[in-house]
Amino acid sequence: MKTVAQAAAHSRAGKATVKKRTVTARLKPSRAVRVGDGQILTGDALQVLPGLESNSAQVVIADPPYYRVLDEAWDNEWRTADDYLQWTLRWARECKRILRDDGLLYIFGQLGKREHIWLHTCSLLAKEMQFHDMLIWDRAVGYNERRDSFTPQYEMILVLRQSADAKPYFDKDAVRIPYDEKKIAAYLGDKRYQDKQAREAHLRKGKYATNILRVPSLKGSSKEKVGHPSQKPVALIAQLLRASSRESDLVLDPFLGSGSTAAAAEVNNRRWIGVEKNPEYVEIAKRRIEAGNAQKKFKLV
Ligand SMILES: C[S@@+](CC[C@H](N)C(=O)[O-])C[C@H]1O[C@@H](n2cnc3c(N)ncnc32)[C@H](O)[C@@H]1O
Repeated sequence: MKTVAQAAAHSRAGKATVKKRTVTARLKPSRAVRVGDGQILTGDALQVLPGLESNSAQVVIADPPYYRVLDEAWDNEWRTADDYLQWTLRWARECKRILRDDGLLYIFGQLGKREHIWLHTCSLLAKEMQFHDMLIWDRAVGYNERRDSFTPQYEMILVLRQSADAKPYFDKDAVRIPYDEKKIAAYLGDKRYQDKQAREAHLRKGKYATNILRVPSLKGSSKEKVGHPSQKPVALIAQLLRASSRESDLVLDPFLGSGSTAAAAEVNNRRWIGVEKNPEYVEIAKRRIEAGNAQKKFKLV
């Protein structure tokens, strides 16, 4: 991997190139902050990502702007849906380049107000990379006042791998869900299993997680909330990281926001790089990781 200085220099060089094309001339060059086992690169993903080494990240967690869903400047920067899709293609191609051959790229998206955008995003990216899975993040509670249909309760996570032949690393045992004691007792009563000890040992390993991940979304009053309008639960991202990377592997998040991926990586001893263009969110993420590591509060996850 390139050093932080190299990445920053590359990013500055990238800025000059982009400027010539007059697409993102108002963007600031990236800056790097080391914190915990990772680093935050402040800047635009399109400028910063080209400075990162190819085939280096075991997993990429991308939670990009949704496109005109949230009342935030960063979610409303594109003139048309096609502009947004073209932009998506550019950062996703960079992520593909940085992703290891046996890695997985996870991309968050939601149906709802602009459902066509997410569907087009999935279709577009499934032509660029190999479709691997579609996870449902069951948020446990509905999240808007839609009057013309059922209240939305889930978001989706598109999972892509490098190619049809690619064999991504995936550890199903790392994300088993424990059975409660009542269930274990009930299952042990099953007469078909003669070796009760072996049966109990098997049950105590827990069951395999399905591709519907039920993790309650963060309420305004949640202790985990740090002031980002689209903050994802650390417990959700931690499951993705545990399943698709080993300790010390590198995790990339091109849209770091408040640092949820970084927090999940810290708890699980993964190295990480986060890119975020808003310096206020960078500050929030930095403080969050420092405080979490100092208090070991992430260890609860
Ligand atoms: C959906 S939020 C990510 C939230 C994050 N997963 C969390 O849990 O806090 C998207 C983030 O992308 C950032 N962003 C938008 N456009 C960007 C760009 N071109 N480069 C880097 N970051 C960008 C926004 O500032 C926002 O914080």
